[in-house]
Amino acid sequence: MKIPTSLLTGIVLVNAVLAAADENYGYSLPVYPSPMGGRISGDWSDAYTKARAFVSQLTLLEKVNLTTGTGWEMGRCVGNTGEIPRIGFPSLCLQDSPLGVRYTDLNSVFPAGLATAATFNKNLMYLRGKAMGMEFRGKGINAILGPCMGPIGRAPEGGRNWEAFGADPYLQGVASYESVLGIQEEGVIATAKHYLLNEQEHFRQYAEWVGLYTNLSAPYSANVDERALREIYAWPFADAIRAGAAAIMCSYNQANNSQACQNSYLLNGILKDELGFQGFVMSDWLGQRSGVASVLAGMDMTMPGDGLVWADGISLLGSNLTTAVLNGSVPLWRLDDMATRIMAAYYKVGQDPSTYPEPNFSSWTLSDYGLEIAGSSEGPTGLINKHVDVRTALSRQMTRQIAQESMVLVKNTNNALPLNNVRRLGLFGSAAGPPLLGPNGCSDRGCDNGTLGIGWGSGTANYPYLVTPLEVINAMAIVQGTSVQYNLDDYDLDNVATLAGAVDTAVVFITADSGEGYLEVEGNIGDRNNLSAWHGGDNLVTAVASENSNTIVVVESVGGIDLEAWIEHVNVTAVLFSLVAGQDLGIGIADILYGTVSPSGKLPFTIAKKTSDYPATVIYDVIEPVPQINFSESIFVDYRHFDKYHIEPRYEFGFGLSYTTFHISGLSVTRLNGIVDSEVPPEPPSYNPPLYLNGSVPSPSSAIYPGNIPRYSHYIYPYIEKDIAESITYHPDDYPYPEGYSDIQPSKPSPAGGASGGNPALWDVLVQVHASITNNGTTGGSEVLQLYVSYPAVDGVDFPVRALRGFEKLSASPGETSTANFDLMRRDLSYYDVASRNWLLPRGTYTVYIGTSSRNLAEAGTFSF
Ligand code: BGC
Repeated sequence: MKIPTSLLTGIVLVNAVLAAADENYGYSLPVYPSPMGGRISGDWSDAYTKARAFVSQLTLLEKVNLTTGTGWEMGRCVGNTGEIPRIGFPSLCLQDSPLGVRYTDLNSVFPAGLATAATFNKNLMYLRGKAMGMEFRGKGINAILGPCMGPIGRAPEGGRNWEAFGADPYLQGVASYESVLGIQEEGVIATAKHYLLNEQEHFRQYAEWVGLYTNLSAPYSANVDERALREIYAWPFADAIRAGAAAIMCSYNQANNSQACQNSYLLNGILKDELGFQGFVMSDWLGQRSGVASVLAGMDMTMPGDGLVWADGISLLGSNLTTAVLNGSVPLWRLDDMATRIMAAYYKVGQDPSTYPEPNFSSWTLSDYGLEIAGSSEGPTGLINKHVDVRTALSRQMTRQIAQESMVLVKNTNNALPLNNVRRLGLFGSAAGPPLLGPNGCSDRGCDNGTLGIGWGSGTANYPYLVTPLEVINAMAIVQGTSVQYNLDDYDLDNVATLAGAVDTAVVFITADSGEGYLEVEGNIGDRNNLSAWHGGDNLVTAVASENSNTIVVVESVGGIDLEAWIEHVNVTAVLFSLVAGQDLGIGIADILYGTVSPSGKLPFTIAKKTSDYPATVIYDVIEPVPQINFSESIFVDYRHFDKYHIEPRYEFGFGLSYTTFHISGLSVTRLNGIVDSEVPPEPPSYNPPLYLNGSVPSPSSAIYPGNIPRYSHYIYPYIEKDIAESITYHPDDYPYPEGYSDIQPSKPSPAGGASGGNPALWDVLVQVHASITNNGTTGGSEVLQLYVSYPAVDGVDFPVRALRGFEKLSASPGETSTANFDLMRRDLSYYDVASRNWLLPRGTYTVYIGTSSRNLAEAGTFSF
């Protein structure tokens, strides 16, 4: 059997070849056919009934239009599908970002994913999603390109770590689940991204990097073993899917040497079979690298439409998909499935063309009037920005409360904080004050200048305002009569030292920034070059601390930084992390400094004493044409690595101080009766029979451009030219489908599959745990009770020393006790067994730890199976 080539590139579908060569690490097995949507009972049934009815009435060209973007800047949003004018169905608007509506105004910049994770507050995760859902809907957006649950952050320098929810899959999973619920309850499609293994920016895309590294021939391959794939990287996606996530974005990189957007193992196998995903898979922007191969491997929509080159108007789908269906290289059922999945997502969140708002903004200008199709001067002009203020009371509450609750206090000696009757306060560092060019002065926030509220790249939005710490502290000074002096020049060390010696308390603001790989900031191409504070931050802290015995450091950063130059300096009395806390971070910082609220944020990653202590780092150099990035740490990311190798971190995952103290007590662990707790989970339900839509492949002449509608250059259409139509014959038997290819849908899911998120038995609660905290301090506060599990020994299976499997944030006034309940599900207690391709529940004794960080564990209990 031969192997199909893509329509345009001639790239050979590598899955089958590689599978034949070696089924081990670094290779991706072929999985075909693509599982059709709508074959599981439950939540998605109504959506599929409607979607099938809708797609049944469409022509071939109309179906293709649903699957293909119109091209970069060929519509109001960063992604726009083709419309179906015959039945009045609009173009769907897909818009960044995971923290607010990108490229518009009168929207909020919510705290980024990392800050949200640092709250460890599930309700805030949910309400933030809801508040964002309201804003996106208010702008007329069908799908938000978020939440972001990859990168996990295996390498602390990873440029986009801050967009996602921290270095633990369980934390990412809970935050993703809550975010998706909140977003979709407001009627907006949530897009879980980036699927999968896009853990660094260097070499994520060929075109972006080949100019700098001419020997590059393809994006990097993230090579990962089967367990880490499920237990770490796909884990949060399972939660998002369980919450109903209606879209997934496949990533730029290769995974085990097959492009993520044409990796049949990841898309057909894990996503659509094992995780039971019922929505649609869209490519990351130009992340699709082949035509037929990607479609057969399970990708359903191409974005922004252009295939290999930005804005060239040539799609790998569009008219090429039309051709592929007409000649039989893509089966009609597969196109039907792509369109049905897209429409099922649309109906799942309750959208309807008669009620859903259309975009009232343009991503490409803030002017009121302009081109409807920004990328084509031939198109109509009109009112394209209505400047609708979409912010709500809930948005305001979220931007402030998450900023407060995400602040992580890691050091506080001599009760340096909260500030108490300070008479002479000195502020140092440019990060205390405003960005010189204004909050939106750098495109996609591509500079580190002044207060740092978010990182850079597509994961950003325009600030409505940005509150700096300086302005809030000045406002406090008016009330409290404090003298506030400052020097915001990071490099003016002599004058800084002089002023530091002339104030009672000094607060030094330092930063570390990162972002997406298409922008370079101060020599950092997306990923951070190192973990040091930017702008000579270490020198600034040391200069201040050398003259002032009460030096407080505020780190405004996208992740952990190397603190070792000064963390043990006797004059550095307090250190506070502000982790990309959004537009209100100045309020959040000041509220902690002044004790308006007690800090309750926890580190969503580990901070090491030495860079070499981390399990992984970014690969910065091309040493082979296809950079091979081996995730050889396997499941031992972040604290799992430090625990396994007995490495003392500077500050561990889950750590964060409070202004009050808590006592943990009352741990109870109960194994529930009456639930199947066998080692092998019960078999999942079978698939319902596939429902094929009626219809047959039309004649090629029906797909010819009709001539009576405007045709703009570089705009992507589904039509084919007359000469092509005349050359097409339908001959599917002649097409060399990949090895193992079959059109026959299986009747049973894989043992790990069967419902949205996986085998429903994985969500059975097997053990319940209760524990309480009592506030035995003198001020009110909140504490995050964290539950870690250690597993019984299994021959040949390496378990983490402990894994996070529950967290609850509890508030208590002095003297008050609050109790947390934790449900441990089968999935929480299982490991992925590669041989049986299933999740197994080990036999033996488990230990449950309750504490306030991954290393501060106050109570322990056991249970056994
Ligand atoms: C990013 C995505 C983003 C898309 C659209 C890509 O470069 O990786 O996260 O949603 O662009 O802007």
